[in-house]
Amino acid sequence: MNYMNSYPRNLRKQNNIMINSKLNLSKKRIFSGIQPTGNLHLGNYLGAIKNWVNLQRDISSIFSIVDLHAITVPQEPSKLKSSTHEVTAAIIASGIDPKKAIVFNQSSVKEHAELAWMFNCVCRIGWLNRMTQFKEKAGKNRENATVGLYGYPVLMAADILLYKATHVPVGDDQKQHIELARDIASSFNNMFARDGQKDFFSLPEPQILGQATRVMSLRDGTKKMSKSDASDASRINLTDTKEEISNKIKKAKTDPHPLPETIEELSTRPEALNLINIYSSLSNQSIDQTLSQFCGQGFSFFKPKLIDLAIETLNPISFEMRKLLNDRKEIDKILRNGADNARKIAEPVLKQVKEIVGFVI
Ligand code: AMP
Ligand code: TRP
Repeated sequence: MNYMNSYPRNLRKQNNIMINSKLNLSKKRIFSGIQPTGNLHLGNYLGAIKNWVNLQRDISSIFSIVDLHAITVPQEPSKLKSSTHEVTAAIIASGIDPKKAIVFNQSSVKEHAELAWMFNCVCRIGWLNRMTQFKEKAGKNRENATVGLYGYPVLMAADILLYKATHVPVGDDQKQHIELARDIASSFNNMFARDGQKDFFSLPEPQILGQATRVMSLRDGTKKMSKSDASDASRINLTDTKEEISNKIKKAKTDPHPLPETIEELSTRPEALNLINIYSSLSNQSIDQTLSQFCGQGFSFFKPKLIDLAIETLNPISFEMRKLLNDRKEIDKILRNGADNARKIAEPVLKQVKEIVGFVI
């Protein structure tokens, strides 16, 4: 609820980040990751992938299918490979061009795990104890969670800093992990500071862009749309058919009031706010523009427009995704080539880190 109250202000802040992101393009490098687990959904698309597609045009970009992260919770080995293919196909079908951006699966570049170990020896237990995503994912039975799940944000810091990435485009839920990556980078810089030597790592900035940085469940506007929600009706999957998209939006929870004129009036109406956010993001317009288009109308008028827009955006993606998945060897080739290119950046950085730490190399 706290989050809902501060929402409009957050949005204004995000727009500033978007303006700042246009500066100094040549010095920027983007890294982001997505887990090969479960179905990708509208939240992944609007909160992350759609922004990656826009950013890759002007900025050196690296996108990883983070399979090392996927094994921090129980998983089925036979599914991991097919999920890796599906997520790769989904991001390419959404518009990521593997000739422009580096696209690879994390476990193919061993330097991620090596750097993560060194960062384990920098990161403090107290910092990890604050991570809200660990608390959510571990649930009540925390003693039974894996050490990998606990150390997950350290691996994420290694992902980013291995490429000396300057910016990390993610959804709102990852902000705390990027703050931790900044703490690890500056702690490493301080631990190994030498006279006259400038900081080895610069501090990466989160890029939380667009109108839908936190897409909420269609069944409960106070809960994040998530791959792991038991109810499939809570999310729109990138692979949903037109009928599924239409039914899910028709059944999405709403309230009996007409749409208001201002964002402030939405602050106590989480489901309405969520649907307005989704519409705004899909149509690349501000929330104010969407509200001026629909204010005074009820959901029976608004929902069919949202259905049309969601189908228009997602249908070509799922069509292209299915086409790509018919040739899994080609997907493997793209990932292998991406890993070769990723390694060219990662190997020298890791070598320098080892020298700084004092290993004989
Ligand atoms: P994950 O599914 O956890 O691998 O997340 C991949 C990317 O999607 C990350 O950048 C997340 O922040 C983003 N993301 C996941 N769920 C949502 C959501 N409900 N709304 C917005 N972004 C999301
Ligand atoms: N933790 C991210 C998520 O669950 C995925 C991720 C792993 C990531 N490594 C990353 C995102 C590095 C950005 C940068 O969504």
